Amino acid sequence: MENATPHNLSPAFEFSSIGGKLAGHSGILELMDDLGRAMTTDPNMRMLGGGNPATVPEMQALVRQRMRQLLEEGESFDRMLANYDPPRGNPRFIRALVTLLRREFAWDVEPDNIAITCGSQSSWFYLLNLLGGQYGNRRRRKILLPLTPEYIGYADQGLEPDLFVSCRPRIEWPSGRENCVFKYHIDFAGVEAVLRKADIGAIAVSRPTNPTGNVLSDDEMSRLSALARDHNIPLLVDNAYGNPFPGIIYVAAQPFWAPHVVLTLSLSKLGLPGTRTGIVIAPKPIAAAVSSLTAVVGLANGNVGQQLVLPWIEDGSILNIGPRILRPFYEARSHQALEWARESFESAGVEWAIHASEGAFFHWLWLPNLRVTTRELYARLKAREVLTVPGEYFFFGLPEDWSHRHECLRLNFSGPGQAVREGLQIIAEEAAKAQR
Ligand SMILES: Cc1ncc(COP(=O)(O)O)c(C=O)c1O
Repeated sequence: MENATPHNLSPAFEFSSIGGKLAGHSGILELMDDLGRAMTTDPNMRMLGGGNPATVPEMQALVRQRMRQLLEEGESFDRMLANYDPPRGNPRFIRALVTLLRREFAWDVEPDNIAITCGSQSSWFYLLNLLGGQYGNRRRRKILLPLTPEYIGYADQGLEPDLFVSCRPRIEWPSGRENCVFKYHIDFAGVEAVLRKADIGAIAVSRPTNPTGNVLSDDEMSRLSALARDHNIPLLVDNAYGNPFPGIIYVAAQPFWAPHVVLTLSLSKLGLPGTRTGIVIAPKPIAAAVSSLTAVVGLANGNVGQQLVLPWIEDGSILNIGPRILRPFYEARSHQALEWARESFESAGVEWAIHASEGAFFHWLWLPNLRVTTRELYARLKAREVLTVPGEYFFFGLPEDWSHRHECLRLNFSGPGQAVREGLQIIAEEAAKAQR
């Protein structure tokens, strides 16, 4: 008998250790799975999970108009779909971006400092594994996250285990504890201690931060930059939400780049996650390495996103989309959701706090003294058709357990108002049952 496996049973294949690690359970898989399932099959689910941007009517109109223009031009449309771009990205798009960054911010960048990817998630997979892990001379270098909680999407990206080491923040109450709004700050003494003790390949932050909506101050950025430069390592800055674009940022913060800084941008939160377009602005050897990885992993990147926004890069209008369209939209939703949270938690008698909302579109809710983990709370909420993201996933790389990691939920506030309001009421009810 040549094949003992019946047709309807899959044979049990073994995976390599790297394969097993990448294909195993991960927070990001659960998050994207829940999101995808809820969006396609469960119309009643209140979507406070996931990182999907909102549908912003004015933005959609701009994109549709540009798509019509491409179709009418005919030739550009055909070229966009019929050709592979070079792995580094579309040369005209890269030239336009370089011109914009030099003109507006006086950054000393050239086309060789840029690499396009299939979205920031891919950019970070490449960067984290280029800079963290085993080096030839038997050294093992880690990625230092100077402030945890940090973006769930990095947690499982290391090809090698234990890629991260992270530091707890200082917690402050900018408008008094009674106002229930807190803010994380980098504890530089802690960061410097790790830099002295561990072998670090890069320092990494998201700014604005997913999950908290924190925006590291200009001063925190220059101190991190100086530390990275002094240790001869790059500073990786994930700008999925902030400046120069998409500009979903509610406080003053200078866009930041320097010759040892890797700044990643994305078109996703402009409202174009379906185009899968990421941009890496980096020292030339790192940008070259990223484009080599693109060639190996996927030959080339998608062209559609680059072609869609090309005229906005060429005329600089991409820098106005945030201040003119996206910021007012998301900031209003942030304020509204905070008011609803205050109403719901106060009437349910829940002890609560929310991180200062300075950018991105998440509220980071702190529910102290829970008798259950936030994974359990998440499951209870999901059973009541409220999708959130449990906080535990965002504290990877922290050597010690910390009660705070079991007390937070990430809430996407960008969805329809009614769902957010009902979601917050149900969270308050469940929190009241779960709090000591
Ligand atoms: C901080 C951060 N980085 C990267 C990404 C990935 O974005 P992209 O859609 O460009 O892959 C996200 C998406 O939510 C994010 O929040």
